[in-house]
Amino acid sequence: MLYDKNISPNRNQACASCHLPYAGFSGPIPSVNLTMVAFPGTVHFRAGKRTAQRHPYAPFFPVLQYNQVQGLFFGGNFWDSRATGYKLRIPDGEQAQGPPVDTQEMGLPDTACIAFRLSQAVYRPLFEEVWGEGSFDIKFPHETERICATPGGAAVFDRSTTPVPLSPEDRTRANTVYDHWAQSIDSYEQSVQVSAFSSKFDAFLHGNYTMTSDEMAGFQLFNGKGNCNSCHVDGRGTTLTSGQTDTSTAALVNPLFTCFGSANEGVPMNPRNAFYYQTTPDPYGFIPNPYGFGYRDLGLGTFLRSGFGSGTNPNETWIQFAPTVDGQVQVSSARDAAMTPPQCPTTEAPGPYFQKGFFHNGYMKSLKQLVHFYNTRDLYAYPVTSGHCPAGTTEKVDCWPMPEVKNNIDMTTGNLGLTDQEENQIVVFLQALTDGFTRPYPNIDTFTGACMSGGSAATQGNEFLIPTPPLPPCASAVCGVAPVPSPPIP
Ligand code: HEC
Ligand code: HEC
Repeated sequence: MLYDKNISPNRNQACASCHLPYAGFSGPIPSVNLTMVAFPGTVHFRAGKRTAQRHPYAPFFPVLQYNQVQGLFFGGNFWDSRATGYKLRIPDGEQAQGPPVDTQEMGLPDTACIAFRLSQAVYRPLFEEVWGEGSFDIKFPHETERICATPGGAAVFDRSTTPVPLSPEDRTRANTVYDHWAQSIDSYEQSVQVSAFSSKFDAFLHGNYTMTSDEMAGFQLFNGKGNCNSCHVDGRGTTLTSGQTDTSTAALVNPLFTCFGSANEGVPMNPRNAFYYQTTPDPYGFIPNPYGFGYRDLGLGTFLRSGFGSGTNPNETWIQFAPTVDGQVQVSSARDAAMTPPQCPTTEAPGPYFQKGFFHNGYMKSLKQLVHFYNTRDLYAYPVTSGHCPAGTTEKVDCWPMPEVKNNIDMTTGNLGLTDQEENQIVVFLQALTDGFTRPYPNIDTFTGACMSGGSAATQGNEFLIPTPPLPPCASAVCGVAPVPSPPIP
Protein backbone atom coordinates (compact mmCIF):
# COMPACT_ATOMS: atom_id res chain seq x y z
CA MET A 1 0.00 0.00 0.00
CA LEU A 2 2.85 2.39 0.79
CA TYR A 3 4.08 1.96 -2.76
CA ASP A 4 0.70 1.97 -4.57
CA LYS A 5 0.52 5.02 -6.83
CA ASN A 6 -3.15 4.28 -7.58
CA ILE A 7 -4.07 5.91 -4.30
CA SER A 8 -3.91 9.32 -6.03
CA PRO A 9 -6.14 10.85 -8.75
CA ASN A 10 -3.41 10.90 -11.37
CA ARG A 11 -2.12 7.46 -10.34
CA ASN A 12 1.26 9.09 -9.94
CA GLN A 13 1.84 9.31 -6.20
CA ALA A 14 2.25 6.87 -3.34
CA CYS A 15 3.30 7.33 0.27
CA ALA A 16 6.73 6.21 -0.90
CA SER A 17 7.01 9.25 -3.19
CA CYS A 18 7.82 11.20 -0.03
CA HIS A 19 9.05 8.49 2.33
CA LEU A 20 11.66 5.88 1.34
CA PRO A 21 13.56 3.44 3.54
CA TYR A 22 17.02 4.72 2.56
CA ALA A 23 16.21 8.10 4.09
CA GLY A 24 14.78 6.50 7.24
CA PHE A 25 11.46 6.91 5.43
CA SER A 26 11.85 10.69 5.25
CA GLY A 27 12.17 12.83 2.11
CA PRO A 28 13.93 10.75 -0.58
CA ILE A 29 15.00 13.46 -3.06
CA PRO A 30 18.14 15.42 -2.05
CA SER A 31 17.42 18.44 -4.29
CA VAL A 32 13.97 18.87 -2.73
CA ASN A 33 15.43 18.55 0.78
CA LEU A 34 17.98 21.20 -0.16
CA THR A 35 15.52 23.69 -1.62
CA MET A 36 11.70 23.62 -1.52
CA VAL A 37 11.56 21.25 1.53
CA ALA A 38 7.97 20.09 0.91
CA PHE A 39 7.49 17.41 -1.73
CA PRO A 40 5.28 17.96 -4.80
CA GLY A 41 1.86 16.28 -4.66
CA THR A 42 -0.18 14.38 -7.26
CA VAL A 43 -0.67 17.80 -8.86
CA HIS A 44 3.01 18.49 -9.27
CA PHE A 45 2.74 22.25 -8.84
CA ARG A 46 1.15 21.85 -5.42
CA ALA A 47 3.27 21.11 -2.35
CA GLY A 48 2.79 21.01 1.41
CA LYS A 49 4.60 23.06 3.99
CA ARG A 50 6.75 20.78 6.12
CA THR A 51 9.45 18.14 5.90
CA ALA A 52 8.31 14.54 5.51
CA GLN A 53 8.63 12.90 8.92
CA ARG A 54 10.09 9.45 9.37
CA HIS A 55 7.88 6.36 9.69
CA PRO A 56 10.01 4.42 12.19
CA TYR A 57 8.71 4.74 15.76
CA ALA A 58 5.76 6.97 14.78
CA PRO A 59 3.40 4.07 15.68
CA PHE A 60 4.60 4.24 19.29
CA PHE A 61 3.15 7.70 19.95
CA PRO A 62 0.10 7.48 22.23
CA VAL A 63 -3.31 9.05 21.63
CA LEU A 64 -3.01 12.82 22.14
CA GLN A 65 -3.79 13.79 25.71
CA TYR A 66 -3.63 16.97 27.76
CA ASN A 67 -1.83 16.37 31.03
CA GLN A 68 -3.56 18.73 33.44
CA VAL A 69 -0.89 18.68 36.14
CA GLN A 70 1.99 19.40 33.76
CA GLY A 71 -0.11 21.64 31.54
CA LEU A 72 1.37 19.86 28.52
CA PHE A 73 0.15 17.81 25.56
CA PHE A 74 1.56 14.37 24.88
CA GLY A 75 1.00 12.11 21.89
CA GLY A 76 -0.44 12.35 18.40
CA ASN A 77 1.27 12.13 15.02
CA PHE A 78 2.35 14.83 12.54
CA TRP A 79 4.45 17.84 13.49
CA ASP A 80 1.33 19.52 14.91
CA SER A 81 -0.11 16.30 16.47
CA ARG A 82 -3.30 16.69 14.41
CA ALA A 83 -3.49 12.91 13.91
CA THR A 84 -4.69 12.55 17.49
CA GLY A 85 -5.85 8.93 17.46
CA TYR A 86 -9.08 10.14 19.03
CA LYS A 87 -11.30 7.98 16.84
CA LEU A 88 -9.18 5.04 15.64
CA ARG A 89 -7.24 5.00 18.95
CA ILE A 90 -4.00 4.85 16.92
CA PRO A 91 -2.46 8.22 15.98
CA ASP A 92 -0.29 6.53 13.35
CA GLY A 93 -3.38 4.96 11.75
CA GLU A 94 -5.18 8.29 11.68
CA GLN A 95 -2.00 9.78 10.24
CA ALA A 96 -2.20 7.38 7.29
CA GLN A 97 -5.71 8.67 6.57
CA GLY A 98 -4.37 12.16 5.95
CA PRO A 99 -2.16 12.09 2.82
CA PRO A 100 -4.57 10.30 0.44
CA VAL A 101 -7.06 13.17 0.77
CA ASP A 102 -4.59 16.01 1.42
CA THR A 103 -5.02 18.45 -1.48
CA GLN A 104 -1.24 19.05 -1.62
CA GLU A 105 -0.27 15.40 -1.35
CA MET A 106 -1.96 12.34 -2.85
CA GLY A 107 -5.03 14.53 -3.32
CA LEU A 108 -8.03 12.20 -3.72
CA PRO A 109 -11.25 14.25 -3.47
CA ASP A 110 -13.16 11.83 -1.21
CA THR A 111 -12.10 9.12 1.26
CA ALA A 112 -14.48 6.76 -0.60
CA CYS A 113 -11.99 6.93 -3.50
CA ILE A 114 -9.53 4.91 -1.41
CA ALA A 115 -12.10 2.09 -1.07
CA PHE A 116 -12.83 2.43 -4.79
CA ARG A 117 -9.19 2.22 -5.87
CA LEU A 118 -8.47 -0.61 -3.40
CA SER A 119 -11.39 -2.55 -4.88
CA GLN A 120 -9.46 -2.51 -8.18
CA ALA A 121 -6.06 -3.34 -6.67
CA VAL A 122 -4.14 -6.51 -7.47
CA TYR A 123 -3.74 -7.07 -3.75
CA ARG A 124 -7.49 -6.86 -3.10
CA PRO A 125 -7.65 -10.60 -2.22
CA LEU A 126 -5.03 -10.06 0.51
CA PHE A 127 -7.07 -7.18 1.91
CA GLU A 128 -10.21 -9.35 1.93
CA GLU A 129 -8.33 -12.18 3.55
CA VAL A 130 -7.45 -9.94 6.48
CA TRP A 131 -10.52 -7.70 6.71
CA GLY A 132 -13.30 -9.91 5.38
CA GLU A 133 -14.88 -11.07 2.11
CA GLY A 134 -17.63 -8.49 2.01
CA SER A 135 -15.27 -5.53 2.46
CA PHE A 136 -15.92 -4.11 -0.99
CA ASP A 137 -19.67 -4.80 -1.26
CA ILE A 138 -20.20 -1.16 -2.13
CA LYS A 139 -22.31 0.06 -5.07
CA PHE A 140 -20.03 2.69 -6.60
CA PRO A 141 -21.95 4.85 -9.11
CA HIS A 142 -20.48 4.94 -12.62
CA GLU A 143 -19.17 8.51 -12.20
CA THR A 144 -16.86 7.38 -9.34
CA GLU A 145 -14.00 6.76 -11.79
CA ARG A 146 -14.22 10.33 -13.08
CA ILE A 147 -14.66 11.92 -9.64
CA CYS A 148 -11.70 10.04 -8.18
CA ALA A 149 -9.51 11.11 -11.10
CA THR A 150 -10.03 14.79 -10.20
CA PRO A 151 -7.78 16.26 -7.50
CA GLY A 152 -9.36 17.41 -4.24
CA GLY A 153 -9.99 21.11 -3.82
CA ALA A 154 -11.01 21.44 -7.49
CA ALA A 155 -13.60 24.17 -7.96
CA VAL A 156 -16.04 21.63 -9.52
CA PHE A 157 -16.52 20.05 -6.09
CA ASP A 158 -17.73 23.33 -4.58
CA ARG A 159 -15.90 22.54 -1.30
CA SER A 160 -17.60 19.17 -0.88
CA THR A 161 -15.34 16.53 0.65
CA THR A 162 -17.77 13.71 -0.17
CA PRO A 163 -18.47 14.19 -3.89
CA VAL A 164 -18.92 10.43 -4.52
CA PRO A 165 -22.69 9.89 -4.10
CA LEU A 166 -23.11 6.82 -1.89
CA SER A 167 -26.04 5.52 0.13
CA PRO A 168 -25.55 5.91 3.90
CA GLU A 169 -24.89 2.15 4.18
CA ASP A 170 -22.27 2.22 1.41
CA ARG A 171 -20.68 5.33 2.92
CA THR A 172 -20.29 3.44 6.19
CA ARG A 173 -18.73 0.47 4.38
CA ALA A 174 -16.33 2.75 2.53
CA ASN A 175 -15.36 4.37 5.84
CA THR A 176 -14.69 0.95 7.31
CA VAL A 177 -12.42 0.07 4.39
CA TYR A 178 -10.58 3.34 4.99
CA ASP A 179 -10.11 2.54 8.68
CA HIS A 180 -8.85 -0.92 7.83
CA TRP A 181 -6.38 0.42 5.27
CA ALA A 182 -5.04 2.76 7.99
CA GLN A 183 -4.69 -0.06 10.50
CA SER A 184 -2.84 -2.16 7.92
CA ILE A 185 -0.37 0.63 7.28
CA ASP A 186 0.14 1.18 10.99
CA SER A 187 0.81 -2.50 11.43
CA TYR A 188 3.56 -2.41 8.81
CA GLU A 189 5.13 0.78 10.18
CA GLN A 190 5.18 -0.71 13.66
CA SER A 191 6.76 -3.97 12.49
CA VAL A 192 10.49 -4.69 12.87
CA GLN A 193 10.86 -4.07 9.13
CA VAL A 194 10.37 -0.35 9.79
CA SER A 195 10.67 0.27 13.55
CA ALA A 196 13.63 -2.05 13.79
CA PHE A 197 15.45 -1.35 17.09
CA SER A 198 18.58 -2.58 15.33
CA SER A 199 21.04 0.30 15.87
CA LYS A 200 24.50 0.26 17.44
CA PHE A 201 22.90 1.82 20.51
CA ASP A 202 20.43 -1.06 20.82
CA ALA A 203 23.32 -3.50 20.57
CA PHE A 204 25.19 -1.46 23.20
CA LEU A 205 22.19 -1.66 25.58
CA HIS A 206 22.12 -5.40 25.07
CA GLY A 207 25.81 -5.60 25.90
CA ASN A 208 27.14 -6.81 22.57
CA TYR A 209 28.53 -3.59 21.14
CA THR A 210 31.20 -1.39 22.68
CA MET A 211 30.77 2.23 21.71
CA THR A 212 33.78 4.06 20.29
CA SER A 213 35.22 6.79 22.50
CA ASP A 214 33.52 9.48 20.41
CA GLU A 215 30.17 7.67 20.50
CA MET A 216 30.46 7.28 24.26
CA ALA A 217 31.46 10.92 24.71
CA GLY A 218 28.51 11.94 22.54
CA PHE A 219 26.17 9.77 24.60
CA GLN A 220 27.39 11.38 27.80
CA LEU A 221 26.90 14.85 26.33
CA PHE A 222 23.45 13.83 25.07
CA ASN A 223 22.30 13.06 28.60
CA GLY A 224 24.61 15.57 30.25
CA LYS A 225 25.78 18.99 29.17
CA GLY A 226 23.66 18.85 25.99
CA ASN A 227 20.48 18.19 27.96
CA CYS A 228 19.09 16.40 24.91
CA ASN A 229 17.57 13.47 26.78
CA SER A 230 15.22 15.67 28.78
CA CYS A 231 13.08 15.61 25.61
CA HIS A 232 14.63 12.81 23.53
CA VAL A 233 14.28 10.31 26.35
CA ASP A 234 17.05 7.68 26.32
CA GLY A 235 16.05 5.82 29.46
CA ARG A 236 18.77 7.48 31.57
CA GLY A 237 18.80 10.36 34.01
CA THR A 238 20.27 13.73 33.05
CA THR A 239 23.62 14.62 34.61
CA LEU A 240 23.94 18.34 34.04
CA THR A 241 26.74 19.17 36.47
CA SER A 242 30.27 18.43 35.36
CA GLY A 243 31.85 15.68 37.36
CA GLN A 244 28.45 14.19 38.10
CA THR A 245 28.51 10.54 37.07
CA ASP A 246 25.58 8.44 35.95
CA THR A 247 25.81 5.18 37.86
CA SER A 248 22.31 3.97 37.06
CA THR A 249 21.68 0.92 34.94
CA ALA A 250 19.56 1.55 31.85
CA ALA A 251 15.97 1.92 33.07
CA LEU A 252 14.62 1.29 29.61
CA VAL A 253 16.13 -0.95 26.96
CA ASN A 254 13.93 0.16 24.09
CA PRO A 255 14.02 3.96 24.48
CA LEU A 256 12.27 5.87 21.71
CA PHE A 257 14.31 9.08 22.06
CA THR A 258 11.19 11.18 22.37
CA CYS A 259 8.97 12.19 25.30
CA PHE A 260 5.95 12.30 22.90
CA GLY A 261 5.56 15.98 23.82
CA SER A 262 5.92 19.18 21.82
CA ALA A 263 8.21 22.18 22.07
CA ASN A 264 9.08 25.38 20.21
CA GLU A 265 12.82 25.35 19.57
CA GLY A 266 12.70 28.79 17.95
CA VAL A 267 13.57 27.63 14.45
CA PRO A 268 13.85 30.50 11.92
CA MET A 269 11.35 30.79 9.07
CA ASN A 270 12.61 29.04 5.93
CA PRO A 271 11.76 31.25 2.93
CA ARG A 272 12.57 28.39 0.55
CA ASN A 273 9.46 26.53 1.71
CA ALA A 274 7.30 26.00 -1.39
CA PHE A 275 4.14 26.77 0.56
CA TYR A 276 4.73 30.54 0.58
CA TYR A 277 4.57 30.76 -3.20
CA GLN A 278 1.28 28.95 -3.93
CA THR A 279 -0.85 32.07 -3.76
CA THR A 280 -2.77 32.00 -7.04
CA PRO A 281 -5.40 29.56 -8.35
CA ASP A 282 -4.00 26.47 -10.05
CA PRO A 283 -5.70 25.06 -13.19
CA TYR A 284 -8.28 23.37 -10.93
CA GLY A 285 -9.15 26.70 -9.32
CA PHE A 286 -7.47 25.75 -6.03
CA ILE A 287 -5.26 28.10 -3.98
CA PRO A 288 -3.11 26.18 -1.48
CA ASN A 289 -1.99 29.25 0.49
CA PRO A 290 -3.85 32.52 -0.15
CA TYR A 291 -1.80 34.24 2.59
CA GLY A 292 1.68 33.82 1.09
CA PHE A 293 4.30 35.02 3.57
CA GLY A 294 1.45 36.04 5.90
CA TYR A 295 1.34 32.36 6.87
CA ARG A 296 3.04 31.44 10.14
CA ASP A 297 3.48 27.87 11.30
CA LEU A 298 2.02 27.90 14.82
CA GLY A 299 2.17 24.08 14.93
CA LEU A 300 0.08 22.61 17.76
CA GLY A 301 -1.50 26.03 18.42
CA THR A 302 -3.15 26.18 15.02
CA PHE A 303 -4.34 22.61 15.38
CA LEU A 304 -6.04 23.35 18.72
CA ARG A 305 -7.87 26.20 16.97
CA SER A 306 -8.80 23.82 14.10
CA GLY A 307 -7.06 26.47 12.03
CA PHE A 308 -5.82 26.99 8.48
CA GLY A 309 -3.71 24.15 7.11
CA SER A 310 -4.28 21.82 10.07
CA GLY A 311 -7.02 19.41 11.16
CA THR A 312 -10.11 19.48 13.35
CA ASN A 313 -9.48 19.50 17.09
CA PRO A 314 -11.82 16.82 18.48
CA ASN A 315 -11.88 18.17 22.05
CA GLU A 316 -13.33 21.63 22.64
CA THR A 317 -11.91 21.86 26.16
CA TRP A 318 -8.43 22.00 24.58
CA ILE A 319 -9.05 25.16 22.54
CA GLN A 320 -8.29 27.45 25.49
CA PHE A 321 -4.70 26.12 25.64
CA ALA A 322 -3.78 27.21 22.12
CA PRO A 323 -1.84 30.32 23.21
CA THR A 324 0.28 28.15 25.53
CA VAL A 325 1.46 25.95 22.68
CA ASP A 326 1.80 28.32 19.73
CA GLY A 327 4.96 27.48 17.82
CA GLN A 328 5.28 24.05 19.38
CA VAL A 329 5.87 21.01 17.21
CA GLN A 330 6.32 17.34 17.97
CA VAL A 331 9.53 16.18 19.66
CA SER A 332 10.48 13.75 16.94
CA SER A 333 12.39 10.62 17.78
CA ALA A 334 16.11 11.15 17.29
CA ARG A 335 16.31 7.58 15.98
CA ASP A 336 17.12 7.20 12.28
CA ALA A 337 17.53 10.96 11.73
CA ALA A 338 20.99 10.07 10.38
CA MET A 339 19.89 7.20 8.12
CA THR A 340 21.13 7.47 4.52
CA PRO A 341 21.57 5.20 1.48
CA PRO A 342 24.61 2.90 1.85
CA GLN A 343 26.58 4.51 -0.98
CA CYS A 344 26.29 7.98 0.62
CA PRO A 345 27.08 6.93 4.17
CA THR A 346 26.44 10.23 5.98
CA THR A 347 24.20 13.31 6.08
CA GLU A 348 27.24 15.50 6.70
CA ALA A 349 29.53 17.35 4.30
CA PRO A 350 32.17 16.86 2.99
CA GLY A 351 30.75 13.39 2.48
CA PRO A 352 30.11 11.75 0.11
CA TYR A 353 26.80 12.63 1.73
CA PHE A 354 23.04 12.38 1.24
CA GLN A 355 21.31 15.74 1.64
CA LYS A 356 18.46 15.76 4.14
CA GLY A 357 16.39 18.55 5.66
CA PHE A 358 15.97 18.62 9.45
CA PHE A 359 13.33 20.13 11.73
CA HIS A 360 9.74 20.73 10.63
CA ASN A 361 10.65 23.28 7.97
CA GLY A 362 13.91 21.77 6.76
CA TYR A 363 15.94 24.85 7.78
CA MET A 364 18.79 22.68 9.07
CA LYS A 365 20.77 20.93 6.33
CA SER A 366 23.10 18.86 8.51
CA LEU A 367 23.08 17.36 11.99
CA LYS A 368 26.12 19.50 12.79
CA GLN A 369 24.00 22.60 12.15
CA LEU A 370 21.17 21.15 14.22
CA VAL A 371 23.42 20.54 17.22
CA HIS A 372 25.19 23.88 16.74
CA PHE A 373 21.74 25.54 16.82
CA TYR A 374 20.83 23.94 20.15
CA ASN A 375 24.26 24.98 21.39
CA THR A 376 24.37 28.61 20.20
CA ARG A 377 20.86 29.79 19.27
CA ASP A 378 20.84 32.43 22.01
CA LEU A 379 24.54 33.24 21.77
CA TYR A 380 24.41 34.26 18.11
CA ALA A 381 20.81 35.52 18.00
CA TYR A 382 20.21 38.38 15.55
CA PRO A 383 16.91 40.25 14.97
CA VAL A 384 16.95 39.45 11.26
CA THR A 385 15.20 36.95 8.97
CA SER A 386 17.05 34.25 7.03
CA GLY A 387 19.24 35.63 4.27
CA HIS A 388 19.91 38.91 6.12
CA CYS A 389 22.66 38.11 8.61
CA PRO A 390 24.91 41.15 9.17
CA ALA A 391 28.08 41.51 7.13
CA GLY A 392 30.98 39.73 8.78
CA THR A 393 28.76 36.96 10.15
CA THR A 394 27.84 33.65 8.56
CA GLU A 395 24.31 32.35 8.83
CA LYS A 396 24.12 29.15 10.88
CA VAL A 397 27.75 29.58 12.05
CA ASP A 398 27.76 32.78 14.11
CA CYS A 399 24.37 34.22 13.20
CA TRP A 400 20.97 32.68 13.89
CA PRO A 401 18.01 34.55 12.41
CA MET A 402 15.08 35.19 14.73
CA PRO A 403 12.53 32.47 15.43
CA GLU A 404 9.50 32.22 13.15
CA VAL A 405 7.31 32.11 16.28
CA LYS A 406 8.66 33.88 19.37
CA ASN A 407 6.00 32.58 21.77
CA ASN A 408 6.58 29.68 24.15
CA ILE A 409 10.22 29.14 23.21
CA ASP A 410 11.95 26.35 25.08
CA MET A 411 14.83 27.78 27.08
CA THR A 412 16.40 24.53 28.31
CA THR A 413 18.75 24.68 25.33
CA GLY A 414 20.07 27.60 23.27
CA ASN A 415 23.37 28.28 25.01
CA LEU A 416 24.89 24.98 26.03
CA GLY A 417 28.57 25.89 26.03
CA LEU A 418 29.56 22.88 23.95
CA THR A 419 32.89 22.98 22.14
CA ASP A 420 33.14 22.29 18.42
CA GLN A 421 34.46 18.82 19.18
CA GLU A 422 31.64 18.14 21.63
CA GLU A 423 29.08 19.11 18.99
CA ASN A 424 30.71 16.64 16.61
CA GLN A 425 30.61 13.92 19.25
CA ILE A 426 26.86 14.41 19.67
CA VAL A 427 26.51 14.03 15.90
CA VAL A 428 28.48 10.78 16.08
CA PHE A 429 26.16 9.58 18.83
CA LEU A 430 23.08 10.47 16.73
CA GLN A 431 24.59 8.32 13.97
CA ALA A 432 24.77 5.40 16.42
CA LEU A 433 20.95 5.55 16.59
CA THR A 434 20.60 4.48 12.96
CA ASP A 435 18.92 1.12 12.44
CA GLY A 436 20.60 -1.57 10.38
CA PHE A 437 23.62 -2.40 12.56
CA THR A 438 22.55 -5.71 14.11
CA ARG A 439 20.84 -6.79 10.87
CA PRO A 440 20.37 -5.13 7.46
CA TYR A 441 17.60 -2.53 7.23
CA PRO A 442 15.11 -3.79 4.60
CA ASN A 443 15.10 -2.11 1.16
CA ILE A 444 17.72 0.46 2.07
CA ASP A 445 19.57 0.07 -1.23
CA THR A 446 17.17 1.65 -3.73
CA PHE A 447 18.71 5.14 -4.11
CA THR A 448 19.78 5.63 -7.72
CA GLY A 449 20.78 9.31 -7.51
CA ALA A 450 24.23 10.77 -6.93
CA CYS A 451 25.82 11.49 -3.57
CA MET A 452 27.02 15.02 -2.89
CA SER A 453 30.47 15.94 -1.69
CA GLY A 454 32.63 18.87 -0.66
CA GLY A 455 32.21 21.81 1.67
CA SER A 456 31.70 21.58 5.41
CA ALA A 457 28.77 20.42 7.51
CA ALA A 458 28.65 23.78 9.30
CA THR A 459 27.76 25.70 6.14
CA GLN A 460 26.23 22.84 4.14
CA GLY A 461 23.55 24.17 1.79
CA ASN A 462 24.25 27.83 2.61
CA GLU A 463 24.71 28.58 -1.10
CA PHE A 464 20.97 27.89 -1.45
CA LEU A 465 19.90 30.43 1.19
CA ILE A 466 17.68 33.17 -0.23
CA PRO A 467 16.73 36.48 1.38
CA THR A 468 13.39 36.33 3.20
CA PRO A 469 11.17 39.06 1.70
CA PRO A 470 9.83 41.80 4.00
CA LEU A 471 7.18 39.96 5.97
CA PRO A 472 3.55 41.06 5.83
CA PRO A 473 1.75 40.82 9.18
CA CYS A 474 0.60 37.37 10.20
CA ALA A 475 -2.67 36.67 8.34
CA SER A 476 -5.80 36.99 10.46
CA ALA A 477 -6.85 33.49 9.35
CA VAL A 478 -3.77 32.25 11.23
CA CYS A 479 -3.11 34.72 14.07
CA GLY A 480 -6.57 36.25 14.44
CA VAL A 481 -8.41 33.08 15.46
CA ALA A 482 -9.56 33.07 19.10
CA PRO A 483 -8.05 32.49 21.56
CA VAL A 484 -5.41 34.63 19.82
CA PRO A 485 -1.66 34.17 20.37
CA SER A 486 -0.34 36.02 23.37
CA PRO A 487 1.72 38.12 23.02
CA PRO A 488 0.40 38.90 19.51
CA ILE A 489 2.51 37.57 16.64
CA PRO A 490 3.64 40.35 14.30
C1 HEC B 1 3.64 14.69 -0.72
C2 HEC B 1 4.50 14.04 0.23
C3 HEC B 1 3.90 13.02 1.18
C4 HEC B 1 3.14 11.91 0.88
C5 HEC B 1 2.63 11.47 -0.47
C6 HEC B 1 2.94 11.22 2.13
N1 HEC B 1 3.56 11.89 3.15
FE1 HEC B 1 3.70 11.28 5.07
N2 HEC B 1 4.42 13.08 5.59
C7 HEC B 1 4.73 14.09 4.70
C8 HEC B 1 4.90 15.32 5.43
C9 HEC B 1 5.24 16.68 4.84
C10 HEC B 1 4.68 15.02 6.80
C11 HEC B 1 4.64 16.02 7.95
C12 HEC B 1 3.32 16.75 7.75
C13 HEC B 1 2.87 17.63 8.85
O1 HEC B 1 3.25 17.45 10.00
O2 HEC B 1 2.05 18.54 8.58
C14 HEC B 1 4.39 13.59 6.85
C15 HEC B 1 4.18 12.87 8.03
C16 HEC B 1 4.01 11.50 8.07
C17 HEC B 1 4.03 10.69 9.27
C18 HEC B 1 4.11 11.23 10.66
C19 HEC B 1 5.17 10.68 11.53
C20 HEC B 1 5.15 11.25 12.94
O3 HEC B 1 6.12 10.99 13.62
O4 HEC B 1 4.20 11.94 13.37
C21 HEC B 1 3.84 9.38 8.87
C22 HEC B 1 3.79 8.13 9.73
C23 HEC B 1 3.65 9.41 7.45
N3 HEC B 1 3.79 10.70 6.99
C24 HEC B 1 3.26 8.32 6.69
C25 HEC B 1 2.71 8.46 5.41
C26 HEC B 1 1.86 7.48 4.76
C27 HEC B 1 1.45 6.16 5.36
C28 HEC B 1 1.54 7.99 3.54
C29 HEC B 1 0.65 7.39 2.48
C30 HEC B 1 -0.69 7.06 2.90
C31 HEC B 1 2.21 9.27 3.42
N4 HEC B 1 2.88 9.53 4.59
C32 HEC B 1 2.19 10.05 2.28
C33 HEC B 1 4.82 13.96 3.33
C34 HEC B 1 4.14 13.01 2.61
C1 HEC C 1 12.84 20.95 25.05
C2 HEC C 1 12.85 19.75 24.27
C3 HEC C 1 14.06 19.42 23.41
C4 HEC C 1 15.39 19.34 23.76
C5 HEC C 1 16.00 19.65 25.12
C6 HEC C 1 16.10 18.87 22.60
N1 HEC C 1 15.23 18.67 21.57
FE1 HEC C 1 15.66 17.87 19.75
N2 HEC C 1 13.76 18.19 19.16
C7 HEC C 1 12.79 18.83 19.91
C8 HEC C 1 11.71 19.25 19.05
C9 HEC C 1 10.45 19.99 19.48
C10 HEC C 1 12.07 18.83 17.74
C11 HEC C 1 11.33 19.19 16.46
C12 HEC C 1 11.69 20.66 16.21
C13 HEC C 1 11.23 21.24 14.91
O1 HEC C 1 11.06 20.51 13.95
O2 HEC C 1 11.05 22.46 14.83
C14 HEC C 1 13.34 18.15 17.87
C15 HEC C 1 14.00 17.51 16.82
C16 HEC C 1 15.22 16.88 16.92
C17 HEC C 1 15.80 16.00 15.94
C18 HEC C 1 15.12 15.49 14.68
C19 HEC C 1 15.04 16.46 13.60
C20 HEC C 1 14.19 15.92 12.46
O3 HEC C 1 14.19 16.57 11.42
O4 HEC C 1 13.55 14.89 12.60
C21 HEC C 1 17.03 15.65 16.40
C22 HEC C 1 18.03 14.76 15.70
C23 HEC C 1 17.22 16.30 17.67
N3 HEC C 1 16.09 17.02 17.97
C24 HEC C 1 18.36 16.21 18.44
C25 HEC C 1 18.53 16.89 19.63
C26 HEC C 1 19.78 17.03 20.32
C27 HEC C 1 21.09 16.47 19.82
C28 HEC C 1 19.54 17.74 21.45
C29 HEC C 1 20.54 18.21 22.48
C30 HEC C 1 21.62 19.04 22.01
C31 HEC C 1 18.12 18.04 21.48
N4 HEC C 1 17.56 17.54 20.35
C32 HEC C 1 17.47 18.68 22.52
C33 HEC C 1 12.83 19.02 21.27
C34 HEC C 1 13.98 19.02 22.02
